[in-house]
Amino acid sequence: MSDLLPALDKYLLKITPPRPKTLEEMERYAKKHDFPYIGPVAGRLLYQQALLHATNNSKAKTKIFELGSGYGYSAYWFSIALGAKAEIHLTDNDESNLELARKYFKQGRLKSKFVYHAGDALESFSKTRGKFDIVLSDIHKKDYPTVVKAVVPRLNKGGLLISDNLIWSGKVFGKNRDSATASIRKYTKLVYTHPKLFTTIIPIRDGVAISIKL
Ligand SMILES: C[S@@+](CC[C@H](N)C(=O)[O-])C[C@H]1O[C@@H](n2cnc3c(N)ncnc32)[C@H](O)[C@@H]1O
Repeated sequence: MSDLLPALDKYLLKITPPRPKTLEEMERYAKKHDFPYIGPVAGRLLYQQALLHATNNSKAKTKIFELGSGYGYSAYWFSIALGAKAEIHLTDNDESNLELARKYFKQGRLKSKFVYHAGDALESFSKTRGKFDIVLSDIHKKDYPTVVKAVVPRLNKGGLLISDNLIWSGKVFGKNRDSATASIRKYTKLVYTHPKLFTTIIPIRDGVAISIKL
């Protein structure tokens, strides 16, 4: 792997301003438990994209669906961007993560409407009716290719599919042949070539792709 990625990550972290108290507490939790969360550098991107999307759309509520929410760190960033003007669906196959998310959201006095789905994220998505403005893809990488087919028809025009880990610690451009890396390569090809999406990878942290629904 090139030395650029860790050095870039370190620099971006250094210039990132302090976060609200509860978010910083959640960051300490991730470090202590070695939890694979999106982190503050990419968290700011979620905040920025949500704000940009909402500013360009005069809707009463921005509907967000997270595929893989963990204990709510990424949802927290979406929520502080939009406040009461967001409906955020959280999914996780570990119910205790969602319980922790509830605790942190209460502690941070967040104003968004939260809907919690314990169990498989894609199953929860298919059981939830309606279209969404933003979908975050952050589940196990083997399931990534399935996300495109499920999500694209359910995104509003101009909506965003945001996908984490598309650089995968540099393994995608190395010689790795393991199944997770293969899945990410396949997913990347799908979101770059899909006729209904326009995608770019932002090379921060582990690579966050922003796909806009055309
Ligand atoms: C990488 S973590 C990210 C959490 C969150 N997006 C963040 O950045 O703070 C992904 C979470 O999704 C859960 N997960 C992975 N695959 C899943 C699936 N197919 N269905 C439901 N949850 C899943 C994992 O247990 C983990 O808690």
